[in-house]
Amino acid sequence: MEQSEKRGQWGSRFGFIMAAAGSAVGLGNLWKFPYLVGKNGGGVFVLIYLVIVVFLGYTMMLGELAIGRNTKLNQYNAYRSINSKTGFMGVFGILSAFLILSFYSVVGGWICKYLFEFVIRGIIPDSQNFFNLYVSGTWEPILWHAVFMALTLIIVFGGVSGGIEKASKIMMPTLLVFLIIIAVRSLTLPNAMEGVAYYLKPDFSKFSFQVVVAAMGQVFFSLSMGMGVLVTYGSYLKGEEDLSNNALTIPAIDTIVALLAGFAIIPAVFSFGMEVTQGPGLLFGTLPAVFDQMPFGQLFGIIFFLLVLFAGLTSSISLLESPVSWAIDSLKWNRKTAVIVFAGLCFIIGAAASLSMGPVLGDFKIYWFDPKGQVIFDFLDYLTANILMPLGGLLLSLFITFIWGYDRAFAEIRKGSKSNFSMGGFWKISMMVLVPIMLILVFLQQMGILSRFIG
Ligand code: TRP
Repeated sequence: MEQSEKRGQWGSRFGFIMAAAGSAVGLGNLWKFPYLVGKNGGGVFVLIYLVIVVFLGYTMMLGELAIGRNTKLNQYNAYRSINSKTGFMGVFGILSAFLILSFYSVVGGWICKYLFEFVIRGIIPDSQNFFNLYVSGTWEPILWHAVFMALTLIIVFGGVSGGIEKASKIMMPTLLVFLIIIAVRSLTLPNAMEGVAYYLKPDFSKFSFQVVVAAMGQVFFSLSMGMGVLVTYGSYLKGEEDLSNNALTIPAIDTIVALLAGFAIIPAVFSFGMEVTQGPGLLFGTLPAVFDQMPFGQLFGIIFFLLVLFAGLTSSISLLESPVSWAIDSLKWNRKTAVIVFAGLCFIIGAAASLSMGPVLGDFKIYWFDPKGQVIFDFLDYLTANILMPLGGLLLSLFITFIWGYDRAFAEIRKGSKSNFSMGGFWKISMMVLVPIMLILVFLQQMGILSRFIG
């Protein structure tokens, strides 16, 4: 492999954390997490989500970072360099990235449209209907999806993502501040406490294995795990970095942002008497109504949607970069071709996903994962978050257990660790036993096998 290739290294620990967190924090935290909470019974989902982040998130993140730093190679070459037969694992994640970007960009387009509406018209009246009407339209959502894809393409194309990373050092903390302010406004609306109770008090009668499947998928999606992206990030880390520390910090930041998004949205849903189970429209339906209740609401809305757009873009460029750098490295394409081909393909699949929210393709259902059928948008979302990424996680666990070996993995993790990595025992049991068992149970559940026994 290109050993001679000069590899960059992160300038500072802060730079690395911001880059990795920039990839992790995105529409998954701001748009998806709150609506999944609403769809999966509130507090139960949040509790299960947190448990999975602590056990699985930390363990797997540490594993991926360790492989990257040890091999100093990107995801597809890293797996191959340890064992020639496992090269396919690196390519696996690229498929996930490609499919995620297809529908991610559709949601990015919704953000662009809302930003536009806020700039032009200020607050949107009757926001829930507005959203439903808008996404079921034919041309306009595709147009905005094209705008978002074009922004992604231009950034990846122009190689200006370095500038984006610098900007994210300012934008990310700003996003955090704005989320806190919006959460405070939302929490002080009349009846907001009903929403807080729904959000934080687990109602165990709402528990089901399907909730666990949803939470697990969301952990993978939100932390960008199980697709090798973090292997590549880890490959730029210096030997003296404490990996274990980083594997705690990134999920912590990501989870804080997701929880804050919930605090900004869920209480408002209850206060305005909206439907908490409505799905993907939740953010778009509620937040404009919250801004409406704030002084300088229009300005607030503009800045907030700008920040969300930015968070989405830092993720989408990382998603597009994944197939692009693979094609450059392995297929020897030039950068220009690779960017145009993959962005183009994602645009086409995304356009179909967008049409599946309206009359054009709304009746076209796929029955792989749900006997009731899923439209293309839901299918892509489910396939990536709940199947491909957890499968990538299972492969990672098997890879570390049987191919790389715990001792070598552990030696890499210990390098640079100040505390002599006191969590080694936990990590071993978690990676070799807990993670595979959890993931296998999740797959059994999805095949309908668990419920046959437990009901
Ligand atoms: N974690 C991102 C989010 O929450 C989405 C994502 C999944 C992602 N996998 C990724 C981003 C890989 C960049 C790279 O929005």
